[in-house]
Amino acid sequence: MKRSKIAGIGSYLPERIVTNEELTKVMDTTDEWIQERTGIQTRRYGVKHKETTSSMGAKAARVACERAGISPNDIDFIIFATLSPDYYFPGCGVLMQRELGITGKEAGALDIRNQCSGFVYGLSIADQFVKTGMYKNVLVVGSEMHSMGLDFSTRGRNVTVIFGDGAGAVVVQPTDDPDQGILTTKLHSDGTYAEKLSFVNPGAHGGYHQERIGDTTDLGYPPADTYGEIFITQKMKDEGMLYPNMEGQFVFKLAIQKFPEVIQEALKEAGLQTTDINMLIPHQANLRISQMVQRLLGLRDDQVWNNIQRYGNTTAASVPIALCEAWEAGKIQKGDLVCLAAFGSGFTWGSALIRW
Ligand code: ACO
Repeated sequence: MKRSKIAGIGSYLPERIVTNEELTKVMDTTDEWIQERTGIQTRRYGVKHKETTSSMGAKAARVACERAGISPNDIDFIIFATLSPDYYFPGCGVLMQRELGITGKEAGALDIRNQCSGFVYGLSIADQFVKTGMYKNVLVVGSEMHSMGLDFSTRGRNVTVIFGDGAGAVVVQPTDDPDQGILTTKLHSDGTYAEKLSFVNPGAHGGYHQERIGDTTDLGYPPADTYGEIFITQKMKDEGMLYPNMEGQFVFKLAIQKFPEVIQEALKEAGLQTTDINMLIPHQANLRISQMVQRLLGLRDDQVWNNIQRYGNTTAASVPIALCEAWEAGKIQKGDLVCLAAFGSGFTWGSALIRW
């Protein structure tokens, strides 16, 4: 079987820089609180109504294609990861396909709903398609326009201050070089605590899961024999229930356990050790999580790339944006061992080991 490699990488960050200070004008928070708990100083927000998750993804994808030496028309398959899609359906994959003008070829498009680990999942899928010879050019994109769906009142401060907008993309191609390419990917999930980091409304659940897990919140659903108003109830609108929610400390504890676990699992399979890692690109969840993971793995500062200070948590986009930035800064050279790792809502987590 062939190996697959990352042949081109690109990213897109919207121009508007939003400081912590700016957020203090709309909610009860402080620059000190945000920096101390998350390390975040600024994040980017896209231009409302002028930029979307798919349009930002297209910008990152164009750069990745150019660097891979191909035209978007050469793409055989698109994998698009996001939790902030333009539409409930269809997915961002086809919208970006249209934006890139590659509709004529009828390349396949797949959307991934795996939140923070979406890009690592997407890369693993691309790897399987490419190494089995099914496709030659697979475009994997992670993109988020969080700023359109956050609660900017004090009620939403624990979540809102963390997230930012942006996109990253890679082109995955086959390689004959035995010393290069994706060595392994590891993917995991556990739905036991699905609601601990979630965006449950609007949805067609009708309170089903809430009842099963003993959550007594009244979501305002009409009687069971009434149809319509299934996705959004008046109560949800009136009481601000249409936003993401997160049990921060629960997420933190699980993240610092699963990140090292899934990294060690990949290293073990490849017969490598943490000392072999040239660059770890962790999902930029929270600087405190990355620092703890670094400590637990015994890695030096120059072995871990962090940019959450400037971009916040961009969920599915964070790994490709960080990978692109580290590569552009010359910190990833041919032959280097690069480890990607992510953990997030679901919970889902994964890792990828790449010989650059
Ligand atoms: N500004 C000021 N005060 C705040 C803010 C804010 N933005 N947000 C919450 N607080 C307050 C709370 O209301 C609470 O006040 P109280 O003690 O009077 O009730 C106090 O700060 C502490 O709240 P906690 O939620 O317990 O704060 P914690 O120390 O856990 O920090 C945080 C919150 C940063 C989210 C932390 O739990 C964390 O990092 N968790 C990991 C989750 C994470 O990083 N998620 C990222 C997205 S998920 C992912 O990518 C994997």
